Amino acid sequence: MTGTGGSQQFDSRLLDSARQLIQRLFGDRIPLAHVHSYGCQGNVSDGEKISGLLAQMGYGFTADPGRADLVIYNTCAIREHAEEKLFGNVGALKHAKRRNPDMVIGLCGCMMQQPAVAEKIKKSYPYVDLVFGTHALQNLPQNLCELLQGRQQGKKRVFDTDEQKNIIYEGIPTRREGSLKAWVPIMYGCDNFCSYCVVPLVRGREVSRQPADVLREIEQLVGQGYRDITLLGQNVNSYGKGLAEPCDFADLLQRICQIPGDFWIRFMTSHPKDITHKLIDTIAQNDKLCNHIHLPVQSGCDRVLREMNRHYDVEKYLSIVDYARQKIPAVSFTSDIIVGFPGEQYEEFLQTVDLIKKVRYDSLFTFIFSPRPGTRAAKMEDPVPAKEKSRWFGQLLEVQRQVGRQRYGELVGQTVRVLCEGPGKTGPGYMSGRDEHNMVVDFIGDSTLCGHFVTVEVDRVASWALVGHRVD
Ligand code: 5AD
Ligand code: SF4
Repeated sequence: MTGTGGSQQFDSRLLDSARQLIQRLFGDRIPLAHVHSYGCQGNVSDGEKISGLLAQMGYGFTADPGRADLVIYNTCAIREHAEEKLFGNVGALKHAKRRNPDMVIGLCGCMMQQPAVAEKIKKSYPYVDLVFGTHALQNLPQNLCELLQGRQQGKKRVFDTDEQKNIIYEGIPTRREGSLKAWVPIMYGCDNFCSYCVVPLVRGREVSRQPADVLREIEQLVGQGYRDITLLGQNVNSYGKGLAEPCDFADLLQRICQIPGDFWIRFMTSHPKDITHKLIDTIAQNDKLCNHIHLPVQSGCDRVLREMNRHYDVEKYLSIVDYARQKIPAVSFTSDIIVGFPGEQYEEFLQTVDLIKKVRYDSLFTFIFSPRPGTRAAKMEDPVPAKEKSRWFGQLLEVQRQVGRQRYGELVGQTVRVLCEGPGKTGPGYMSGRDEHNMVVDFIGDSTLCGHFVTVEVDRVASWALVGHRVD
């Protein structure tokens, strides 16, 4: 491996011995893998790397875990519900494995980075063969070989979860899920320690990819026909910390926009504490940057924000929204909100409702607080009953439904640029795509438009999409 600061080149020679072993074990038959990622886009992006490694090792793919020789679940630890779902799905694999004892079951991702979970799998799920954490993805070829070879000698399981190295591996093969949209991580980990959040504990400290590596990947994607590229990071606004060459997020975006071609750049997630006027000005100046900011507010109450360790208040948040609306009249916002943070009072919750009405988000990702082991908030007193929190949650959804409907209504009669992706739900003869705000737009057209940008005048709002006709 060669090192450049916090990044290393993945050694693709490791795949050769894995490929040979797989060939020896399966002969002429192509073994099938089923890879499923739970949770955020960062996990989806990791899943694409896992699939990329497996493809290079000679695996084909199946959507049916029951038919697979290898099942890998890439897990999410963000809320308890995600964990419960995973354990349910792993439980279901027990029967599949009874039918096919040679099946390999692998678990990876954020949950496996929690020692208590890895221990639970070790003790209570003996049919899980392979466990690896978020920092061991690049070891998959060796780990799988060790497992498959070990089986012949009676060794049954491989666990690789201990290390928390903050090293970025460049050049891991990627098998992308789409041909128009691509995810590009620009950084990994998180340094923010919001009091409710498990991510810094399972993903480790923040590290940024070298700008040259990001630029090279995007150039390649554009060359391959990708048109809608989303840059990923837990807090993209703090991109560049620790790089030898000074390059903040706005600088990186400027450089990406110099790449020739007709494509869109999106990014998430923006932490309000680190967003700068420079970044907003950069979005305003570049057509390739979508006029949409996912800016999680979490709460509209200053006291709750302090308890959450978010480092901004409502006034600061609204001043960002105002500045962006001045500079980018077409800008839209989406957000994440947590209802029922420990100790939150109903009056404080109502301040969040108020904020939603002020900002007028296009849409929201809303969550009821879920205590995560090892976080500060998990130890806080939480007297409000779950039923009450659900009631608040319903109230919030209703307010957002009204705000969203109004926002969509304002688009009737306007023209929007849409990247055509495939058939629309409106009916035969309709195609569909998304606009720069990530809204689904259906329009009359045919499949020759797939992969092209079209201009659509919006005629009406349906529950599944904006519906219109082409005017280009
Ligand atoms: N409980 C509920 N929601 C959470 N999120 C993160 N941690 C928790 C938790 N413990 C939400 C936040 C974050 C989004 C990705 O998930 O809103 O922005
Ligand atoms: Fe979690 Fe906060 Fe980091 Fe987002 S910024 S991943 S909410 S700790």
